[in-house]
Amino acid sequence: MTTGLIAALDSTDPVQVRAWAQDVAPHCGLVKIGLEYFLANGPAGMGVVAGQRVFLDLKLHDIPNTVAGAVRAVLPVKPAMLTLHAAGGAAMIRAARQAAELAGADRPILLAVTVLTSLDAEALHETGVSGGPRQQVLRLARLALEAGADGLVCSAHEVAMLRAALGAGPVLVVPGIRPAGSDVGDQARVMTPREAAEAGADWIVVGRPITQAPSPAEAAARIAEELRLKV
Ligand code: C5P
Repeated sequence: MTTGLIAALDSTDPVQVRAWAQDVAPHCGLVKIGLEYFLANGPAGMGVVAGQRVFLDLKLHDIPNTVAGAVRAVLPVKPAMLTLHAAGGAAMIRAARQAAELAGADRPILLAVTVLTSLDAEALHETGVSGGPRQQVLRLARLALEAGADGLVCSAHEVAMLRAALGAGPVLVVPGIRPAGSDVGDQARVMTPREAAEAGADWIVVGRPITQAPSPAEAAARIAEELRLKV
């Protein structure tokens, strides 16, 4: 299995995002546009990544009718991947899938977020979930895939468990990646690109180690090379 690179281009500034997108284009399968950029610039701002496959990370979570409407609203942007929260429930995910099908063969791959990695066992317990994050991640992963999600966004430390439990089918997209020797920043539990690839990730998401590097193009090239050299 090969593992691809997604560069997270987190900024509200279209000039900056366009520059990064051009820098990383030769080395990345997709670029990730998040809430920050999309709320600041809207669909009209997506021209800066025209011609590239886009992972639109909006983490949708609302009643089924509203999420279906949101999915329909972003279809003209033609995202290759789109995120939603598994915690929205099976009906919400089914509604999102039905809406996505309107795009036919060009429909976005729907990725479900299970438990935010910013929630530890105690924080999760405070929300009323007992049993711990791993159990909840697996429960929500199964629910999301049964309801029509194509894959999952998961932490580097869940990817091996999810691959073992769910098999080769689901697309697993893994943020929280730091190349060896780089600044960990606010990501508490990280893996290197190679470790995540060996654990079974289809895609890794890397933001600041690329965008804040002296040369984003070189940083992306090095990570892509590390993925190619995976044993
Ligand atoms: O800069 P960094 O590599 O930490 O960026 C990672 C990207 O992945 C960010 O856009 C962040 O929103 C996203 N993400 C994450 N951790 C998760 C889910 C998404 O860092 N658990």
